[in-house]
Parts: sequence; C-alpha cells; structure tokens
Amino acid sequence: MSAMTMLVTGGAGFIGSNFVHMVAQRYPDTRLLVLDALTYAGNADNLKGAGNQVELVKGSVADAGLVDKLCQEADTIVHFAAESHNDNSLRDPSPFVETNLVGTFTLLEAVRRHDKRFHHISTDEVFGDLAIDDPAKFTETTAYNPSSPYSATKAGSDHLVRAWVRSFGVRATISNCSNNYGPYQHIEKFIPRQITNLLTGRPAKLYGTGEQVRDWIHVDDHNDAVLAILERGRIGETYNIGADGEHSNKDVIELICELMGGTYEHVADRPGHDQRYAMDATKLTDELGWKPRYTDLREGLEQTITWYRENEAWWRDAKDAVEQGYAAHGQ
Ligand SMILES: NC(=O)c1ccc[n+]([C@@H]2O[C@H](COP(=O)([O-])OP(=O)(O)OC[C@H]3O[C@@H](n4cnc5c(N)ncnc54)[C@H](O)[C@@H]3O)[C@@H](O)[C@H]2O)c1
Repeated sequence: MSAMTMLVTGGAGFIGSNFVHMVAQRYPDTRLLVLDALTYAGNADNLKGAGNQVELVKGSVADAGLVDKLCQEADTIVHFAAESHNDNSLRDPSPFVETNLVGTFTLLEAVRRHDKRFHHISTDEVFGDLAIDDPAKFTETTAYNPSSPYSATKAGSDHLVRAWVRSFGVRATISNCSNNYGPYQHIEKFIPRQITNLLTGRPAKLYGTGEQVRDWIHVDDHNDAVLAILERGRIGETYNIGADGEHSNKDVIELICELMGGTYEHVADRPGHDQRYAMDATKLTDELGWKPRYTDLREGLEQTITWYRENEAWWRDAKDAVEQGYAAHGQ
C-alpha cells in the first residue's frame, strides 16, 4: 500500500474523511487524491491535519473527463462518494440517481480503461430490512430488496460493479457495511443529531416508538475493514462489514441521554422506516482475520460525544437549519 497513489471519492464526507486520516497516518508514503463535489455533506475542513500527502479536487464522480484523468493517475480507487441520506432521497431522488448510479458507472468505465484496482463502498440497506423478532442476519448471499431511492441506487451501483467484474474483468471488490457513527458525521444523521440536540439545550428526538434496530459500527472499524479488504481481499468478492452492534433506536437514545445527562421526546416516524438491520460479517472475520476494535457502544459513544463537544465550530452553523428541516416534517 505504501508509495502509491490512491483516489478516494467522497473523501470530504463522513466516512471518507475518516478513511483519509487513517490511511495518511498508517501509510505516510501513499499519495491521497480526494475527489469530492463538496455537496452540503462534504466539508474541506474534514481533511485539515491529514498532511500534505492529501490533495483535494473539487468535482463530481459523474464528470467523465475529470474521472478519467484522476483514475489514470491513481493505482487504487476507493469509492465512498454518494448521496447518503434516506430522508433526502424521499424528497428528491434525482441526485441519488446521478451520483450513486451514473457516478459509479463513470468510475467503472475509467477503471476498465486504465485497468486499476477498485473498491466500492456500499451499505446493508441494499438487503431491505428484517422483522424485529427475526433472528436472521444479512449475509453476502442475501437477496437484494432495497426500500428507498437511496438504497435502490446503492443496490444498483453494487450490481454495476459485479457486472463490470464479470463482463470486463475489472479488478474490484465490494463491501456492504452496517450503520456507522463517529467523528465528522453530518448532524442530520441519527446519533450526531441527538448529541448536538443535547449540546444546544434541545431534547433528543426519537422517531415513533424507537423499536427499530440498527447494527452500529464505529467508523474506524469500518475503515479498518476496508483496508483489510484492499490488502488481502479476493478480487470479485463482496464482504459484509459489521461489528455485532445491534441496538434499538430507543436504547441508543437512552444511552446518549444517560451519558450526557439529557432527556428525549417522541417525534413522527419516518415513512417506510426499515425495522431491523443486522450484518453477519463471518466471511470478513474468517477469511481476512479482521476484528472490530470498538465492541462496546458505550465506549464508542463516549469518544464520539467528546468529539462533538470539542468541535462545536464544525457543526454549530448548520444546526438551526437542520432542525428547521426536521420540524417541517414533524420530526
Ligand atoms: N453512513 C453510514 O452509516 C454508511 C453505512 C454503510 C455504507 N455507507 C456508504 O459509505 C459512503 C459514504 O457515506 P457517508 O456517510 O460518509 O456519506 P456523506 O454524505 O457524509 O459523504 C458523502 C460525500 O460524497 C460527496 N459527494 C456527493 N455527491 C458527489 C459527487 N457527485 N461527486 C463527488 N463527490 C460527491 C459529498 O460531498 C460528501 O463529501 C456512501 O457510499 C454510503 O452509501 C454509509
């Protein structure tokens, strides 16, 4: 991995920027080219302190000319860029189609032309959801059954990657990961929204009864698994990433309230809210010997709460607008 050029798309977003920091630290000889459109979810400041091996290029993954040039320069491409917020996809699906589908197609074509190693970041949401009382977990062979425009476009992008592997011999891997939390996550998302609500004197907000279950993983564990796949994964394979972190939304909010000394209130549920996600990461752990570091949600949340406390300047300006947006939908 050292002394190479890695193109990281979406590297100014939540998971991508944490990935850039991790790679910069572990591989000081790796040049990191970040391609990011800097949408509302991207922030150039997320890359501050990552070192001068990082270069940010502002542009879209759907811009074929730019993507071709950057893929030519890179040895490996790690594709995080996406429109990533379910609620937004219900209001306006079009950027989801453009970035998640057309963008992935554009990258695959460039990767094919220049014969580069490609890793595609995807989500457990492609599998749809499980009933709350169903003991099953998603595996790599679970049938796709996406619920929202977000998950449908991510599912479509996974299919494109598999087709380019099979039809054109592209050297690609895919990972589908469960729900991430940690530093640099946009405050529209569930955990940072609750933390910043409490930090601004608002109550935390629980959708509906809060019985829905999510499988939480710390962002550093997700990115560590991506590096394991890049280093040791088999070309053409898909790996589920998860850390056995199943908790109901109610349990998570109650833990945040306990750790921060706050209260919560119930708000309108999301339309079509998925009930339960749960990832079986046995293939990743058995085949690549990967293990998560954060196995205790309390410890991961404490670290995350401290980060939001210490980095108020990073999120403060966006807070009122995000809450007004939610309030307009009774949330
Ligand atoms: N957040 C999660 O819990 C989670 C879980 C599993 C998988 N994922 C996947 O991980 C990836 C990153 O998610 P995230 O939570 O960091 O999202 P994010 O919304 O925080 O970041 C997305 C980044 O992509 C950039 N972007 C958007 N459109 C672009 C375009 N057309 N061209 C270039 N850049 C563009 C944005 O500016 C932003 O920096 C996504 O592919 C997502 O599907 C996320």
